[in-house]
Amino acid sequence: MELKGTYTASENRYDTADRMYQRCGRSGVLLPRVSLGFWHNFGGVDPYERSRAITHYAFDHGITHFDLANNYGPPYGSAEDTMGRLIDDDFRPYRDELFIATKAGYDMWPGPYGNWGSRKYLMTSLEQSLRRMHLDYVDLFYSHRYDPETPLEETLQALVDVVRQGKALYVGISRWPLEALKVANEYLRSRDVPLLIYQGRLNMLDREPMDEGILQYCHDAGIGFIAFSPLAQGLLTDRYLNGIPADSRMAREHFLKSERLTPQLMEYLAQLKQKADASGETIAQQALRWVLDQEGITSVLVGASSTSQLEGNLKVI
Ligand SMILES: NC(=O)c1ccc[n+]([C@@H]2O[C@H](COP(=O)([O-])OP(=O)(O)OC[C@H]3O[C@@H](n4cnc5c(N)ncnc54)[C@H](OP(=O)(O)O)[C@@H]3O)[C@@H](O)[C@H]2O)c1
Repeated sequence: MELKGTYTASENRYDTADRMYQRCGRSGVLLPRVSLGFWHNFGGVDPYERSRAITHYAFDHGITHFDLANNYGPPYGSAEDTMGRLIDDDFRPYRDELFIATKAGYDMWPGPYGNWGSRKYLMTSLEQSLRRMHLDYVDLFYSHRYDPETPLEETLQALVDVVRQGKALYVGISRWPLEALKVANEYLRSRDVPLLIYQGRLNMLDREPMDEGILQYCHDAGIGFIAFSPLAQGLLTDRYLNGIPADSRMAREHFLKSERLTPQLMEYLAQLKQKADASGETIAQQALRWVLDQEGITSVLVGASSTSQLEGNLKVI
């Protein structure tokens, strides 16, 4: 099927703007309260037309922020290839309405320069990401994880320099521990490239950024916080109430293992289901609202394998 050039974004895409957008920390940037992640469902193994339909649905409903990383796929790099194709096919006219993020920090290419937090890795990886996505710059570039071996200043200076080069407009960090986050905040602020956002896993089953004081620190320091896996990869939905559907993430037994479905979790989900039914909502909506209600949360970063999942999840706005 050849649809090139046929996409026109919905005229109503900003109808919910008063509820949809939230200032990211103390910055000039507004982000949608629900953002879309490309970790799963946008790789070379996934049907392009489905990825495309989900992306259209998202943008048509005010989701302006898409989150990628160099190694999202599979195979590595292919989610960014998909984004490049989407830019060419549909989104070039809307580029300035989009806030596109990518990251480097995890395993990407063989040898000593394709992993962790060196200047060499971050800067060359961003170059590759831009080429794959057919973009001149990204809106946001992240250090994807804390590297205990590389001096923090080396990683942070690379973030400063990609902004100075015009290859990223803002920078963020993901999964850094609190003490390193504090160093990052000071270092970047003193170089006039303030830390825009912190990305961490936060959901009803995993509250580490709250327990560790990261969310509070970000709030106090004027740094945005975007919560990834707010549905615990689908556990906090009705997906697994009656077994493991063949088309689910858990069926692939890779990132989400079936051993997570413990009797305790099933009991917890049954309680959530009861509460959700009583309020006419879904478990997913309750789970997203729980995250969005925490002080300091800018956005929930959801994944979706269908437009109908996204449609349901957007009802929290
Ligand atoms: N910084 C990091 O280290 C890091 C790590 C992980 C993720 N992330 C980012 O966060 C994004 C989101 O992560 P995630 O995909 O784990 O988020 P999630 O929203 O917790 O899980 C998404 C999955 O939940 C299921 N789902 C979503 N809505 C549903 C609904 N209404 N009903 C039933 N099932 C539903 C779908 O699973 P099925 O596929 O089974 O349908 C979907 O793929 C990623 O794409 C990535 O951008 C970042």
